[in-house]
Amino acid sequence: MSQTQLTAGMGAAEMVATGISKGFGLGPLHKQVIQDCSFTLEKGKLTVLIGPSGCGKSTLVNLLAGYEHLDAGQVTLDGQNIDGPGPDRLVVFQETALFPWMTTYENVSYGPRVQRKIPQEIFNAETMKLLDMVGLKDFKDKYPSQLSGGMQRRVELVRAMINNPKVMLMDEPFRGLDAMTRALMQEYYVRLFEEHRGTNLFVTSELEEAIFLADRLIILTNRPAKVKKIIEVTLPRPRTFQMLTTPEYQECKHEALELLHEEAMKSFASGTVNAADFLEACASMGQDQPAPRKAGRDA
Ligand SMILES: Nc1ncnc2c1ncn2[C@@H]1O[C@H](COP(=O)(O)OP(=O)(O)OP(=O)(O)O)[C@@H](O)[C@H]1O
Ligand SMILES: [Mg+2]
Repeated sequence: MSQTQLTAGMGAAEMVATGISKGFGLGPLHKQVIQDCSFTLEKGKLTVLIGPSGCGKSTLVNLLAGYEHLDAGQVTLDGQNIDGPGPDRLVVFQETALFPWMTTYENVSYGPRVQRKIPQEIFNAETMKLLDMVGLKDFKDKYPSQLSGGMQRRVELVRAMINNPKVMLMDEPFRGLDAMTRALMQEYYVRLFEEHRGTNLFVTSELEEAIFLADRLIILTNRPAKVKKIIEVTLPRPRTFQMLTTPEYQECKHEALELLHEEAMKSFASGTVNAADFLEACASMGQDQPAPRKAGRDA
């Protein structure tokens, strides 16, 4: 078995959601969260889901992961119906889920070790390669408590990637990190994706991050979330932060911003509490003229 058998998006699959809906609560307490959403996560592509706060992004991730049941519609993975969680889909959440009693090396190699399908020298080489890619080779024997928040997020990323899932579902994994660490994480993540080319869904509420990462951008409406628009991001790969100054990026950003702003205005009109925050965020996104960013220090 060659080393690349663990990597290179070999098992990547296409995931299709068709007319999916989900609500919570009964009777007068019923709240419709997702309504008639249809989209495709194309094989080997990085699809980014962006939408107003509280619109139902995590619910959508939970439906795709099989943690929640659909009220209506269908989700398929390479044509097969999904009706529960499975090892073919891995979810990376915002919260860290590293085992505190394991070292970096043990955490990352945990999946292949327990599956016992891959010889040790193969997963050992793969673990070290991935740790090298995210700048953590020298931290392989450290425990999570000995790592910074950004380092822990990187361990988490490669711990998911080493399992080479058919689909990676990432629910705002960089939320709450400071701006410098977040930029660094985006860079590490985009490099990992460009190397592996798996099928990835990445959820974010940051437009700049969304465009920097995405092949396709799915813009959601307010709750109940529907697909408002799907934008193809045609910036070339490998991505660099310098691309955030190009007219192509600006065009994409303005189109997305207009759509998100429209949703913010609607939620403002209907008195949604998050609307004011969202409008403020939109305004600051509109004002900035992105300068090339270079992540310059370790997180
Ligand atoms: N298990 C549940 N039971 C009841 N209501 C739920 C449940 N899960 C989610 N909701 C409701 O669904 C709505 C959407 O929540 P969700 O967490 O999916 O939104 P989100 O877009 O991920 O929000 P955020 O931007 O804060 O991450 C919220 O009003 C939430 O209260
Ligand atoms: Mg969420």
